[in-house]
Amino acid sequence: MATDNPATESHSRRVVRSPQETTAVAAEWLPHLLQAGVVSLEGPLGAGKTHFVKAVATALGIPEDVTSPTFTLLQSYGSGEQRLHHSDWYRLESAVEVLALGLEEYEGDGLMLIEWGDKFPEILPPGTLRIIIAPQSDGSRLISLLARH
Ligand SMILES: Nc1ncnc2c1ncn2[C@@H]1O[C@H](COP(=O)(O)OP(=O)(O)OP(=O)(O)O)[C@@H](O)[C@H]1O
Ligand SMILES: [Mg+2]
Repeated sequence: MATDNPATESHSRRVVRSPQETTAVAAEWLPHLLQAGVVSLEGPLGAGKTHFVKAVATALGIPEDVTSPTFTLLQSYGSGEQRLHHSDWYRLESAVEVLALGLEEYEGDGLMLIEWGDKFPEILPPGTLRIIIAPQSDGSRLISLLARH
């Protein structure tokens, strides 16, 4: 079910059959991601969350190679209008550890994408978009965008 304005609709959904199709969805949804400012990327290991972040970086025109921030917990890319912050909460054990990252310092300074944001939903700012990637038995992915956490 597609909507033209997921910021006011409850959600939007796509079925993707390849990483390239996921990349296209990221580009299509980019305006909504930028409007929200903070996006929680959710789904099991290997679902394609980091792939989605790479696609957003490409859509923003960021030339740097986006890697998994698992060990640094936060990586920032680009500059000016094309600023992207990438965090991964998989290895964090408490909301206190997340708060210690000081992510609120980046609010309003570009786009924040958080893998495993659903681990600590209580500290995601109001208006955070959720992107949920659900691998299907045939290898495709169902990607849902939800406007409210
Ligand atoms: N439709 C698809 N969209 C995205 N990735 C896909 C798709 N089909 C297959 N893949 C593959 O699945 C893998 C996804 O890996 P990725 O690191 O993005 O997952 P992840 O959700 O970030 O995992 P983790 O929870 O470990 O961080 C990639 O190797 C990618 O090529
Ligand atoms: Mg990842």
